[in-house]
Parts: sequence; C-alpha cells; structure tokens
Amino acid sequence: MSMRTHYCGLVTEALLGQTVSLCGWVHRRRDHGGVIFIDLRDREGLVQVVCDPDRPEVFKAAESVRNEFCLRITGLVRNRPEGTTNANLNSGKIEVLAQQLEVLNPSVTPPFQLDDDHLSETTRLTHRVLDLRRPQMQNNLRLRYKVTMEVRKFLDANGFIDIETPMLTKSTPEGARDYLVPSRVNAGNFFALPQSPQLFKQLLMVANFDRYYQITKCFRDEDLRADRQPEFTQIDCETSFMNEQEIRDLFEGMIRGTFKNVLDVELPNPFPVMQYSEAMGLYGSDKPDMRVKLQFTELTDVMKDVDFKVFSAAATMEGGRVVGLRVPGGGAMPRSEIDAYTQFVAIYGAKGLAYIKVNERAKGRDGLQSPIVKNIHDAALNAILEKTGAQDGDLIFFGADKAKVVNDAIGALRVKIGHSDFGKKNGLFEETWKPLWVVDFPMFEYDEEGGRYVAAHHPFTAPKDGHEDLLETDPGKAVAKAYDMVLNGWELGGGSVRIHRADVQSKVFRALKIDAEEAQLKFGFLLDALQYGAPPHGGLAFGLDRIVTMMTGAESIRDVIAFPKTQRAQCLLTHAPSEVDEKQLRELHIRLRNVEPAVKAS
Ligand code: AMO
Ligand code: AMP
Repeated sequence: MSMRTHYCGLVTEALLGQTVSLCGWVHRRRDHGGVIFIDLRDREGLVQVVCDPDRPEVFKAAESVRNEFCLRITGLVRNRPEGTTNANLNSGKIEVLAQQLEVLNPSVTPPFQLDDDHLSETTRLTHRVLDLRRPQMQNNLRLRYKVTMEVRKFLDANGFIDIETPMLTKSTPEGARDYLVPSRVNAGNFFALPQSPQLFKQLLMVANFDRYYQITKCFRDEDLRADRQPEFTQIDCETSFMNEQEIRDLFEGMIRGTFKNVLDVELPNPFPVMQYSEAMGLYGSDKPDMRVKLQFTELTDVMKDVDFKVFSAAATMEGGRVVGLRVPGGGAMPRSEIDAYTQFVAIYGAKGLAYIKVNERAKGRDGLQSPIVKNIHDAALNAILEKTGAQDGDLIFFGADKAKVVNDAIGALRVKIGHSDFGKKNGLFEETWKPLWVVDFPMFEYDEEGGRYVAAHHPFTAPKDGHEDLLETDPGKAVAKAYDMVLNGWELGGGSVRIHRADVQSKVFRALKIDAEEAQLKFGFLLDALQYGAPPHGGLAFGLDRIVTMMTGAESIRDVIAFPKTQRAQCLLTHAPSEVDEKQLRELHIRLRNVEPAVKAS
C-alpha cells in the first residue's frame, strides 16, 4: 500500500468499507475513556479517526500522541454512529477505524491552539509555520494560487508571454526609496532592487515581444500600512499597438474573469469610468470606495465672503477648498460621536469639524443647530442647504483648508461614516463589489517641498493627445493617458500609455527639471532604445497581494503572503534584517557609520 492513499479531508461516504492510508497532523485528540478519537488534519481538511482497545498496539500508540504529531493511519472507513455526524466537515458522515497507527514524527507542544482566533500578529508571524497550518491561511494561499493560475491562463490565451527581468538593476523611479545591494566586484557601486519592471517591459516592447507579462516581486522602501509591503508582487503587463481604451477593456476582462472563476462573483460589465477630477471633487480621493453612498458638496465659491473666517480664508486662499458632507439621518448622531469624528479628522490635519444639524429646514436659520451658522449669511446658508439637498434630520459636516487636507480628512470621514454601524443601519453603505476605472490623471503634481513638478504616475507616461505643448507651457494642466483600477476603496492596479518618442520623453524630463545630462545618465538606455522605431505601447500592473486580500476578505495583505514583513519591515521568523560580519562588509567595501543599534526583531 502506498504511504498515503487519500487526503484526510476528502474521505467521504464514497469510500465506505474501504481501507485507506492517511497522513496528517493531530488536530485534536479526545480520550473518551475506552475509545480515543483523533481529528487528523491535512491540506484538504479533517477526518475523525477512532482508536479502540480491541487493537491494543494502536490504542497504546494513540494514548501517546499529542497535538501536531505527524501520523500515518491505516484504517477502515465506516459510517459514524447515528447522531454523531458533523455537517461542517466534508468527511462528517464517516469515520476511520484505525488498524495501524504510525507516529511519523512527534511534535513539541505548540505555543498556541491552531483554532484560537485571537492570536496576536506577533505570535502568528513568530511561529509562522504553525500559523500557516491553520485552515484560514491554507485557504488564503490556495486562493492566491488560483488567482495567479487564472491570470496566467488569461494572459497566455491572449498572446502574452512571461519574460523575466533583472532583480539586480538600476534604480527605477516609482516614487519610493530603493533597496540597494552593494557590488563586491565593482567597489563603491550599488544595484537597486526593482521598484517595478517598468523600464525593462518598455524595452521588451521596443524589442518586438509585442505582449509581455510577469508575476514578479517589486521592492519599495516606504512607510508600511495595511495595504503595503516592502516586497510585494505585481502582475505586470505591457503591450504594443493598443490604445488606452483597448488596454483597459482587455485587463478589465482579466479581472472580471478572475473574480468569476475564482469566487463566482459577477463584477459589473463594463466597469464605470470616472475622471480623476470628478473622483477628487466628489470623494476627495483618487480611489473612492463606491460602496459608501456619501458625496462632497463643493462650497468653495459660496464661502468666499462669510464672516466665519475659517471658511472664508480657505475659500479665498490659493489652493484652498471648502466642502460639505451631507449625512442623511445624521441629525440623530449624538454629540459624542461628532466629537469622535472631530478627533478622527485631526489625524489628517483638519483643524476642526464644523457641522450643521438640519432640524426643520422650512424654518430657515431657526431650524438649524450648529456652532457656525451665526457667522454665515442667509445667502450662503441657503446655498448650503440647496446644494447639499439637505432634508430634515440630516447632518452636514464641513471641511475647510488647503485642498489636500480637506480631501484627505473629509474623504476619510466619508469612508469612516459609511462603514460605521450608523452608516450600515441608515443605508449609507452597500455590501457589494464596486470596481471602477479612474482616468485622466494629471501628468504632474506640484511638490511644495522640492519646489518643482513630479510625475503623478511615472515619467514615462504619455500625455493626452493635444497636451504635448502644455508640457512646456503649463505642465500643471497637462493630462496623462493614465488609469487606475479601483475596487472598494483600494487601488488594485494602474498603468498608462507610454511615451514612445524620444522628443516627447525629453520634454517630460524638462518639465520635471531633469536636464539632458542627468536624463542621459539615468535613462540613457531608454532614450537610446526609443530612437530605433519604438512602437506605441502601454500597459499596467496589478498588485497581486491586494487583489487576493480583497478576495479573501483578509484585514491585511500580510494574511495572503506566506512570509511577510511586519510594519517595521522585519521578518519575525528569520530575524531579517540582521547585522553581518565585518568580513562581509569589508568584501563589499563598506564601513558602517556610527549607527544606533536597531530594535531587534524579537
Ligand atoms: P504602481 O506603482 O501603481 O505602478 O504599482 C502597481 C500596483 O502595485 C500595487 N502596489 C503595492 N502593493 C503592495 N505593497 C506595496 N508597497 C505596493 N505598491 C504598489 C498596487 C498598485 O496599483 N510600473 C507601474 C505600472 C505601470 O505603469 O505599468 C507601477 O509600478 O496595487
Ligand atoms: P471655532 O470658531 O474655532 O470654535 O470653530 C467653530 C467650528 O468650526 C467648530 O465646530 C470647529 O470644529 C469647526 N472648525 C474649525 N476649523 C475648521 C476647519 N478648518 N474645517 C472645518 N471645520 C472647522
């Protein structure tokens, strides 16, 4: 008989009366005086094994086994006695009467019960191997695999070929800090780990591969959040001779197909398309969570001449903004909740959170309850009520500041209220999948600190037709052929049509204040390649970790990565990063500055 004939979780009544050999781990062992039950677990699930004293050597072995022992059991599949079936298990109608029990390997006592749902993340990441044995993590990683298989099938069927690009490379500007790798052979020189394969995939288009993809690691040394890791995986794609619309349609099909085939979820067809300006205008975000039924009302013009200085100052300053956020039924919100939201928006830099409760709109000013209405003249007050469409019982929140602060603060407030119990009870949140494309991003954003424009996507993104001249005359107004796919408030992926002409690429570098010499030094290989009849091309990259996180409903992308880093960019399992020998440093021509010892990953 082979070592294993069946998976534990797949033994069903179809095997009644047969002898099976199972290998797996002891999930639970229950001693019912006289009979010992072992729940044996493998990749596919659990099966109940019965060890009775009629077979003394089996029984004796069963007495000694403990949780997480690795066993091989040979036994007879039989019906469970009446009343003891378990509808939650695939194998819930049967049990296996053990005829042989072999301890393949004992286990020390695990630091936690695998079915404990309240483990801290530190515990889980420190004992990741055991954590990964848990059914939830098994599901997450298998679902991840299914997604990559679907994606590969789709891309293969559409003529994309997988080509690997270097991990030891030159810095690519995607906006984060690089991870650097010192070169031993070339003293004083460093490779950068790729932030994305961006430039290589463009070179592959120039090299006539026509359609490329790669499911590959990218490295970015940036501040970590729930949806970010220092190394993460992109589904990276590029194609020649397709326009923006064609590229979006193709990859929308890929995501729709993947959701259908993996989760049996029908995403809308087609996805709604929203301009960047509309997203910022109505939601204060370029990745709006469309499940939340709240929108901004633009009030900047209305507030220019009110006595309330906070509003009039924001409305009249360069780059200032005043918005209202109408919360239907919000009048019932207790003061404590409003205070809590005031503290919440402060995280985003908001200096306060003005509000109006609309008790009885028909009564005009007297029907309103608010700390600010006394300083707002009638015309402005009417405009607020008109424009927000306020009704009795509503609450209107206000944000007034630099546009970025207002967008961040009120944008986050919108999502927070939508997701709150109040929001869910009052129909402000729809539990569903809400994908969309956000398009027509600006080419550049002004970086106040650096005092210059920076690329909003990356510097290889093409301007909209007719916007080439703006690159030089008014870069802030130039719109890009760039697009992001957004799902439930997360940016799943993004890309653009690229610049395929060296003269246009030079204009963009000039707008970014990268002079010809620096451009040649950093991107000479791209500029050179563009000169050899580079084809029109474009593409995009999806964040695989994010897609899978959304699909599994996990809280963090760490739950869909086998061996992730913590928020402090450490691996609690291997204790990386760690110090290295003086000898290694010397070989790499590196002498350390006097560094404060890092807080060790413990
Ligand atoms: P971008 O920088 O938008 O574009 O990255 C593409 C997608 O990668 C995911 N992502 C991340 N996921 C986890 N952790 C991170 N730190 C992280 N950073 C990004 C996001 C994002 O949408 N070269 C371009 C793509 C192109 O133009 O083709 C690029 O890298 O889901
Ligand atoms: P004050 O005049 O400072 O007492 O503020 C009156 C109200 O306006 C309070 O409810 C504050 O929370 C609110 N407020 C203050 N600054 C802002 C701001 N920048 N945006 C929105 N509301 C604000």
